[in-house]
Amino acid sequence: MTPAQIIARKRDGGTLTVAQISEVVGGYVRGEIPDYQMAALAMAILLRGMNASETSLLTAQMLRSGETLQWSSPLPPKVDKHSTGGIGDKTSLILAPLLACCGLQVPMLSGRGLGATGGTLDKLESISGFRTDLNLAEIRELTERVGCVITGTTPELVPADRKLYALRDVTATVESIPLITASIMSKKLAENLSALVLDVKWGSGAFMKTLDQARELAQSMVAVGNRMGVRTTALLTDMNQPLGRMAGNAVEVNECVDVLRGGGPADLRDLTLALGAELLVLTEVEPNAEAATSRLARMLDNGTALDKFREMVSAQGGDLDELRDVAPVHELTSPRAGFVVAIDTAQLGWAIIELGGGRKVLSDQIDTSVGIEMLVRLGDEVSRGQPLVRIFSPPRRIADVQPMLESAITIADQPQPVQPLIAERIT
Ligand code: URA
Repeated sequence: MTPAQIIARKRDGGTLTVAQISEVVGGYVRGEIPDYQMAALAMAILLRGMNASETSLLTAQMLRSGETLQWSSPLPPKVDKHSTGGIGDKTSLILAPLLACCGLQVPMLSGRGLGATGGTLDKLESISGFRTDLNLAEIRELTERVGCVITGTTPELVPADRKLYALRDVTATVESIPLITASIMSKKLAENLSALVLDVKWGSGAFMKTLDQARELAQSMVAVGNRMGVRTTALLTDMNQPLGRMAGNAVEVNECVDVLRGGGPADLRDLTLALGAELLVLTEVEPNAEAATSRLARMLDNGTALDKFREMVSAQGGDLDELRDVAPVHELTSPRAGFVVAIDTAQLGWAIIELGGGRKVLSDQIDTSVGIEMLVRLGDEVSRGQPLVRIFSPPRRIADVQPMLESAITIADQPQPVQPLIAERIT
């Protein structure tokens, strides 16, 4: 079949075979299939969908487009977590060292901010000297020696996704469940893992606005992971308000250090423990979630996880103990008494970007010292004049974001039901 015939088959709602998927992905990476044909196919997939077997085949072909991480031994088990992203979502920084303390190895390949959400690599770069550009040999060496790394992906891993994602970004074809599944899962499968947990967020600060959309994406990714031999589960988690109190870069690292010391906000600690427990059970290191959770909690409370984080930071060239700059504080107060009933969480993310804490264009330099601290949560009763948000910013920028932050928080006379932190578990 010619590329045009393959596109037409998908356009008409047909199912693509392994040979057809392999021809287009291979041809695209080799430069034989031009961007305009791949864009047409991506749009046909967005409109017509793909069944579970096609999605797995697409993921496998994308995975095959590059190298994969090779380990000197499959043991200790290699594990990772992927989050679909949110505001204040910083669990990776806590989870990687925490799992390493429990005998697992974590080659965590992370990303930069996407849309309104912050990126793990940007947060880590607020630590003086920290390198996020490890090469394949360094990733392997540090994962096996320290037990964990958090770094960016490398050019050798899944080149098909690098090329296809850039194309999807400019052709309105990002929001397709099979394409998102293949993109995320091919990169995770390239780490050669024993187990993977997915944190699929839903709500006002998430990529997926409804629980139904998040469930559909989670089911698709869990099916592909398990079909391809990696034990995979997902948690559907709430992103109708920021996770933890801090959102930004340096302030998020500081909050992670609090959790690694056994303190920090309860929602951040609880979600990190739940994600970690999934991996300890999937790898059979612990027999059940209760045993796994209490082991993980112990590692936070006795300082072992913080020591491991410090070791990882130093192995990646950073100094955790050098004070990170945090911009001056300004408080935003409530215009009225009532209950916090809604938070436009993405708007909070856009405000942080406006402050310079994220990029508007790829070449922007991030100011890691800016951010916000949420002083209230959904369901809280507030009085008039009570502080709602602490803004960390040079004073001259406050006026740019104050209206955005004010309009992001809705106060009403009557409280509304609050969503659970973990809505569902997908296996
Ligand atoms: N993140 C990815 O890595 N890929 C997608 O397609 C969407 C989000």
